[in-house]
Amino acid sequence: FLPQVLANKNITITAGPTREAIDPVRYISNHSSGKMGYALAQAAQWLGAKVNLISGPTSLETPGGITKISISDAEQMLQAAQEYTQNCDIFISCAAVADYKMKQVAPQKMKKTSDELTLELERNPDILASIASLAQKPFCVGFAAETQNLAHYAKDKMQRKNLDMIIANDVSNQAIGFNSNDNAVTVFWPKGSVEIEQTDKQNLAIHLLQLIAAQYEEK
Ligand code: PMT
Repeated sequence: FLPQVLANKNITITAGPTREAIDPVRYISNHSSGKMGYALAQAAQWLGAKVNLISGPTSLETPGGITKISISDAEQMLQAAQEYTQNCDIFISCAAVADYKMKQVAPQKMKKTSDELTLELERNPDILASIASLAQKPFCVGFAAETQNLAHYAKDKMQRKNLDMIIANDVSNQAIGFNSNDNAVTVFWPKGSVEIEQTDKQNLAIHLLQLIAAQYEEK
């Protein structure tokens, strides 16, 4: 147990979903509740860190003693992440960022004029990859939400995005992952890995921060 490692460290965490507007009344999003990211923010605060939580829309209460930055879409999350990772020791990207956004957001509510509708989408920026490519990058931790080949895809993401650690969860299992109170994960870093069995997200968050602290100190 290494509680002193995180004391007074600056930790920035992203959490929750993003919402990409289609028109003034509709959006594209996903099932992230923010629970995993908020649990990490709370645990980091307990361990003495200074925590900035960049959050998409959720119905969760903000833990006391942390700074919350509320955003809606991926572009806003990217801007906040760029600002709050300057002078940051550890960046944890737990948000479920929408991979695509509208090529052009409709300025007025779209009308039901035809039986079929095709939306033209374009890729959103990869927030985590852009922070992890900085010359002065913080210790970068990603999540991998997978439905198959967990280890293979997670290790591939860690390498491609230049991460120090990745936490893989199986989001095809309703009891864990999106929106549930529990999660079960496999954590990978360049020289090792560990499996953490199903437990509630707050308990898991403490375990994860212990692993992060150990690898951060080793680096
Ligand atoms: O919020 P909960 O309901 O508690 O659910 C928790 C969770 C399942 C959302 C969480 O544990 C989780 O897995 N978060 C990451 C979800 C995800 O988008 O994974 P991904 O494999 O698509 O992305 C890989 C990594 O890149 C993630 O760290 C993600 O934050 C980041 N990313 C992805 C796309 C993008 N445009 N920008 C990013 O920064």
